[in-house]
Amino acid sequence: MQCKSIKPFPDNFLWGSASASFQAEGAAHEDGKGDSVMDVRVQDPSICNYEVAADHYHHYKEDVALMKECGLKAYRFSIAWTRIFPNGNGEVNEKGVAFYNDLINELVSAGITPIVTIYHFDYPQALVDQYGGWLNRKSIDDYVNYASFLFRTYGDRVKYWLTVNEQDHVVHMPFRLGLTDDDRHEKERLGFLANHNMCVAGSLAVKACHEIVEGGKIGPAVCFDMLYPTSNKPEDGLAWMDAMDIRNYYVLDMNVRGEYNGAFRRYLEDRNMYPEFDPSDMEIMKANKPDFIGFNYYASKSISAYPLNENTKIGDIEFKLLPDKEAGIYQVVKNTNLNATLWGWEIDDTGLQCVCRLLWDRYHLPLLITENGFGNKETWPEEGILQDDDRIDFLTRHLHNVKEAMNLGVEFIGYCTWSFTDIVSGHSGFSKRYGFVYVNRTEHDLRDLARRKKKSFYWYQETIRNNGENI
Ligand code: BG6
Repeated sequence: MQCKSIKPFPDNFLWGSASASFQAEGAAHEDGKGDSVMDVRVQDPSICNYEVAADHYHHYKEDVALMKECGLKAYRFSIAWTRIFPNGNGEVNEKGVAFYNDLINELVSAGITPIVTIYHFDYPQALVDQYGGWLNRKSIDDYVNYASFLFRTYGDRVKYWLTVNEQDHVVHMPFRLGLTDDDRHEKERLGFLANHNMCVAGSLAVKACHEIVEGGKIGPAVCFDMLYPTSNKPEDGLAWMDAMDIRNYYVLDMNVRGEYNGAFRRYLEDRNMYPEFDPSDMEIMKANKPDFIGFNYYASKSISAYPLNENTKIGDIEFKLLPDKEAGIYQVVKNTNLNATLWGWEIDDTGLQCVCRLLWDRYHLPLLITENGFGNKETWPEEGILQDDDRIDFLTRHLHNVKEAMNLGVEFIGYCTWSFTDIVSGHSGFSKRYGFVYVNRTEHDLRDLARRKKKSFYWYQETIRNNGENI
């Protein structure tokens, strides 16, 4: 709604930026680090791997100094599980432990609040080899042991923790679970089994964090695209509702309410994908609610009904990375009202306000926006600095919607842009940049990896300085 006036951001609002270990650090085989599923995946050779990335492992002091100069109040990063436990369990790698101690100390002395993601896609390959990874219940113990080790080691300085990044995406991306066979339906079934085990593991990590970290706060970091019904046809409205339950709410409903929502459960049962488990799992989830909801927001999607016809049957799915058409339920269609990034992600700042309000209404937990950003193809100009006005516009509009949601009563902990320096994109290598700071390398030419401040760096610096008054 349009309000008469707009209240400012609170003084304790965490203005942050985010990254993930495998996308930022590089040093993929240094100082005893073990392989993760991201290191061993087979990928398009035209895209860079994670061997060097933005070389944050060797540049972290410089990067933190830049964060301090920008005025960041928080930095969200993930810990590479295989730097701490190269085999996923068993022996600790002291050099890996030392790296994160140094990084955390550097942040704390720069006055930047660390927000740590325990697991962001880079699952230990050794656990897949040992027992099938997340498909096996042993994975729950190993995750909780690893998380508890982090709480004991860093919990004196780290008070904000995130359990799992984008679990709702991981379960649909077989290679991130270490799965290699070709049967996509079977992979979906296994993905939902992994989902269940991750939910139990995440809830036990909430418990451990509350027991070990004095004043610790912990929550999930899901991906939450806004979905809209494409038309005012009632069947599109129904398809939208189904899609919200089975694409968007299902992980949070398990994390926060300790339940499979009705539509999601029926969806799984109809497809023989509802996992077998002991009812005590749901008690664990119910008893260990997160303290906040972390979510990544990039885009919205438009949803239409997709009724069964003579060529389709229940269980048929078409994928575009994630399920795109679910026979008998919904399909994602292009939203002609929105512009999109070069990768077709529909740009929708209003959608962010909608998501904030929906999540607040459903769960009544404070929100931490763990990622939001604009990916673009960028090259450093011959003269002057990189004028990334599109990014500034994107972030300004999205932040304005956060401010509006706040004015309507939604509680926020903070907001992290994706990303601070350029890092390797999840699917598009170094050709898709998100940072305020340009990293001088290309897909396969490492150049000097020098850091250069883009125009958006100064915009964010000013935004933080005036606590979002310009938004
Ligand atoms: C989120 C992930 O899905 O989106 C990040 O948590 C990822 O790891 C980000 O990098 C942006 O996606 P992409 O594919 O543009 O890098």
